Amino acid sequence: MKYLIIFFLSLNLCANENPRISAHEEAVSALASLHFVKDGRGMTLTPDAVNMFDFMAKFLGLSKPSDGKALREKAKVGMFTKRWGLIEQDKIIKGFFNVPYKKMNIGAMGCAVCHSGKAAGQYIIGLGNKNIDIGRLASDTYQASKLWKKLTVLKRKSKDYKRIEKDSMAFAKRLGDQELNNLTQGLVPISMIMSWFYRVVEGTETPKGSPRGVVKVPHFWGYGKKRFVGQFADGFGNGTHAGWGLAVELAGTQTAENVRQMIPKIEHAENMLADILPPKYPFKVNQIIAARGKKIFNNTCFKCHGTYERDQNGLPLYKEPKHIKIQVVKTDEDRLKGLTPHFLSLVDRNPLPEFIQNNDVPPGYFAPRLESTWARFPYLHNGSVPSIMALLTHPLERPKFWDLQRVGEKERFNEETLGLTLPKEGSREYKKLEREAKSGARDVYSTERVGQSSKGHWFRFSDKLSIQDKKDLIEYLKTI
Ligand code: HEC
Ligand code: HEC
Repeated sequence: MKYLIIFFLSLNLCANENPRISAHEEAVSALASLHFVKDGRGMTLTPDAVNMFDFMAKFLGLSKPSDGKALREKAKVGMFTKRWGLIEQDKIIKGFFNVPYKKMNIGAMGCAVCHSGKAAGQYIIGLGNKNIDIGRLASDTYQASKLWKKLTVLKRKSKDYKRIEKDSMAFAKRLGDQELNNLTQGLVPISMIMSWFYRVVEGTETPKGSPRGVVKVPHFWGYGKKRFVGQFADGFGNGTHAGWGLAVELAGTQTAENVRQMIPKIEHAENMLADILPPKYPFKVNQIIAARGKKIFNNTCFKCHGTYERDQNGLPLYKEPKHIKIQVVKTDEDRLKGLTPHFLSLVDRNPLPEFIQNNDVPPGYFAPRLESTWARFPYLHNGSVPSIMALLTHPLERPKFWDLQRVGEKERFNEETLGLTLPKEGSREYKKLEREAKSGARDVYSTERVGQSSKGHWFRFSDKLSIQDKKDLIEYLKTI
């Protein structure tokens, strides 16, 4: 019976007559190439990107000239993927574009740099990139641009080139600020967005000592419902109008007037995100255990995370997530600390008030809807819990350090704990990770860093769940 259902379901999916599936396909292909660079402004990190990176790769490859191009390509890809966390798929770096503008090649970050990622070896558009290191990408690019500027001092540069050079270097410098950027791969500092408000409203930089407010990049499926109850992990943004895509642009080098002209395109993009479907669990599921897990879920977790139903074609019916006060969920509060009365007053005075609005929610986080939870590890807004089994373990006993290298690859995926495979606590490998974490390695997660604690999400019923209950819950999560 089970197999029969799966058979018909997959027949249905293959037939592709389902409008939700074709809408999903259109949305992911549009998202893959989406960016809002206009008049040479936007999320631009450097003008002349192609020439600069080619030169640097050549420079890095100099030690072995006999290997020629292949080595240079390797050096480039290593820098892109390992150091900066960009995703390479079929020899293409995802979401990073060279946008031609007045005979220049402007290096632009598209949405897919952050909003596409890998899990269990699959590349998924609309999943967050688990490795993006925007702080390091920016500070490296800033250093490289300074060098490039010196090397090209004799080159004739147009007025536009000079303007883009100046703007994008200032942007890279801001993003790479050691005091405000992320300390770990896969986490994006919200201070990056906040800085725009300080700059345009008061003409100041983000005050020293402001929180970094790191968050993992969220998934997009279900966003069509979510945005109307609040944007971001904390619900701070009012998503009734074009909102977030716009905020990202503003954090770059864009002007408010240009953004105003792009509103229809931004609105269109935000609406399109509503069509994205969650990726199906790629391995076997034991339906009997899952059915037991569903019962436990509907007695405990559902109070915050809701219940899950599907349409007649087996596709998920999206619902709004519930916002939970910080006093209840008790997870890391660093992300919420930037929302000071002063900052809120800047939001009220921003130059695009009809679009960028504060949403009056109390400090807290959304209990996210849990469709395709399997792909979204590490869990919680700050990615501080490496698997569901760890999330169902007392906060003091959760893992503290783990390796972020190749996190999206199949060999790191653990079907039993639903998340990352980790070395045993106390093992040599674990101790090595601990040492690396303490010395500041950006590709090792440490729950000891600011904003990265794995506290909270522990409730009255949590202590009462047996090991079998937890396994049942995990099996159920694979089905939604
Ligand atoms: C530097 C990485 C980065 C880039 C580039 C980026 N985003 Fe995001 N995006 C994030 C992060 C991180 C969040 C979550 C912020 C939070 O919760 O505080 C987010 C949140 C969002 C949300 C809200 C999701 C929700 O659940 O409320 C939308 C919509 C969104 N981004 C759209 C876009 C679009 C469109 C683009 C391209 C113009 C883009 N983003 C580019 C990192 C990025
Ligand atoms: C009292 C409300 C509440 C209950 C009960 C609750 N959760 Fe949560 N859950 C939350 C909140 C709020 C968050 C987000 C916290 C954050 O990101 O800091 C969350 C986050 C999560 C996440 C992380 C999702 C992601 O994408 O990172 C998972 C998975 C999860 N919960 C599973 C469960 C399961 C399974 C249960 C039942 C055993 C449960 N929760 C019970 C409120 C709750």
